[in-house]
Amino acid sequence: MTCACNGEKTDEKFFEPLYKVFEEYETDEKNLIPVLQNAQDAYGYLPEEVLKEISSYMKIPLCKVYGVVTFYTQFHLEPRGDNIIRVCMGTACHVRGAGDVYDVIQEELGINDGETTEDLKFTLERVACIGACGLAPVIMVNDNTHGRLTPDKTREVLDTYR
Ligand code: FES
Repeated sequence: MTCACNGEKTDEKFFEPLYKVFEEYETDEKNLIPVLQNAQDAYGYLPEEVLKEISSYMKIPLCKVYGVVTFYTQFHLEPRGDNIIRVCMGTACHVRGAGDVYDVIQEELGINDGETTEDLKFTLERVACIGACGLAPVIMVNDNTHGRLTPDKTREVLDTYR
């Protein structure tokens, strides 16, 4: 767990979306998770400055806020891409070529598991079974499932999101 306190200043305008979130919630510790969820919706991730402001507003130690953020996989400390690509690496997908599909995406986008492209268009994640084994190998791009993929078909799918 990191406790980041480097005293950076950030302008008021940056915090406007956060202050709107604060208007909805009392400064009660039980509201920390919904405040974090709404802040993440507003910023796309949880920047350090936002976590400091939440800590200060809710009177919760910053280390405790980081503890919650790093415990739940739903929270992200780094910017995420507009398109989240989840490559299923479950057993059915694995035996039907998920590794090749993953390699193609990695090559095409130049990123690895958990990384985001510099233009913030794509984030790549390896995941366990997503419940569509009959369509193996499968990827999800945002809420869309793409199945029975080959390397060529994977490139075509990527092109539709570029
Ligand atoms: S193993 Fe990939 S969807 Fe089930």
